[in-house]
Amino acid sequence: MTNILCIGAGYVGGSTMPIVASHCPQHRFVIVDINEARIAAWQSDNLPIYEPGLDEIVRKTRGKNLFFSTEVDKHIAEADIIFVSVNTPTKTFGQGAGKAADLQYWEKTARQILENSTSSKIVVEKSTLPVRTAEAMERILNSNGNGLHFDVLSNPEFLAEGTAVRDMENPDRVLIGGRNTESGQKAVEALVEIYANWVPRERIITANLWSSELSKLVANAFLAQRISSINAISALCEKTEADVSEVAHAIGLDNRIGKYFLRASVGFGGSCFKKDILNLVYLCEQYGLPEVAAYWEQVVTMNEFQEMRFASNMVASMFNTVAGKRIALFGAAFKANTNDTRESPALEVCRALLEERAEIVITDPHAIENARYDLGELAKRVAFEPDPYAAANGAHAIAILTEWTQFTQLDYEKVHAAMVKPAFIFDGRNLLDHRKLYEIGFNVYPIGRPALTHLL
Ligand code: UDX
Ligand code: UDX
Repeated sequence: MTNILCIGAGYVGGSTMPIVASHCPQHRFVIVDINEARIAAWQSDNLPIYEPGLDEIVRKTRGKNLFFSTEVDKHIAEADIIFVSVNTPTKTFGQGAGKAADLQYWEKTARQILENSTSSKIVVEKSTLPVRTAEAMERILNSNGNGLHFDVLSNPEFLAEGTAVRDMENPDRVLIGGRNTESGQKAVEALVEIYANWVPRERIITANLWSSELSKLVANAFLAQRISSINAISALCEKTEADVSEVAHAIGLDNRIGKYFLRASVGFGGSCFKKDILNLVYLCEQYGLPEVAAYWEQVVTMNEFQEMRFASNMVASMFNTVAGKRIALFGAAFKANTNDTRESPALEVCRALLEERAEIVITDPHAIENARYDLGELAKRVAFEPDPYAAANGAHAIAILTEWTQFTQLDYEKVHAAMVKPAFIFDGRNLLDHRKLYEIGFNVYPIGRPALTHLL
């Protein structure tokens, strides 16, 4: 039996470890976090994150070979392998503010591991980190005078929220980076053995530490770049008579391009894309590559343009003013099937419309609490309404900001009847049947397609 510890019970640690535990009944898993409320939630029937399929896995493993705890020190002492998935937000202060990763939690965790260890261990980076962080961690960890040895591995997480269980059960690949030393390779092999309990060997790939760390940033940068590319084209489509979905379909059938991640939208969100790209940008700047930095930074700039373009298009279409008008935002989560609102384009649109003094009401099947939290002070100026019909009642406009299936199943005749006329729908996800909405009487504004409007 191996004692496996995960430090950080957030989206990453909390959704991956129970799945690993379910495939490795021979090992014992503990997930610790400094946040007591979060650990209490993981121990309850009401898990802190909404992730389809996860409840069942936690229920099956919890109390058997999976345990949640706040006793970080004690469990560090017992562990053979430690996964670290504490958060690494963008720095808000000092050098690199706004771009570089804030590594204070990581470093604190490394020191805590050192202080509480009485045996040698493998430490696995699960958080996304700047390239060469492992080196700094190795130095801290191996700076002990008691003969302990720590091997640091990089094992980036590629799962996407909302499909985390599926992604983890059947990953395209698992990437493990380690040192090319004898003990480094032994550590890599130990981690390969864990994944080999359910992942076919050929999908478990190994690399050097720096390649592994960099691959995570690059994977996210490439994915986000596709979205910014199609969103750039959506702006052009709205000016011409092209339809961005038709363009995406046509180009996606080219195998070299591929059909995924070409859905034009109000913008990409989530805790990773922006943070990781800015991290990459900072890294390039640090290594004296300003052109490379500027190239990638444009992916983020394009995304901000798309979000703002959506909000200003709403204002322009509604006779250049939304002041005092009730606007229902359908969706707060950064994508469907998650309650996560971090970097959500919905909240950016919300902020922009509040600037214009609109009266905002937000509806979302799972993300209302997080939206309220993330909006901070601004939340006082927003109404939250779990029922989409009630949200639309008396509204001048609806903006579809998250692609929840629930929103496709509403009776839009009924929605329309309860709205102020002329009634507007701005579909930031091209989710609904626009022709049908138009026939009901809505003025419909999709992304990257001509508007369907009854206005002259
Ligand atoms: C996020 C990103 O998604 C991921 O890519 C990045 O590498 C790390 O941050 P996530 O799991 O979503 O990962 O973060 P979050 O939900 O904030 O969870 C981190 C957890 O670590 C929190 O519950 C926090 O309380 C805990 N933590 C943080 C500790 O237990 N100890 C610390 O010192 C700091
Ligand atoms: C992403 C990566 O996919 C994952 O591999 C990595 O581990 C973490 O970051 P996640 O942020 O959970 O995962 O969501 P993802 O499905 O990638 O979507 C990110 C954003 O892009 C969402 O706001 C989504 O709505 C948007 N998106 C995605 C589009 O606008 N269009 C698309 O075609 C695809």
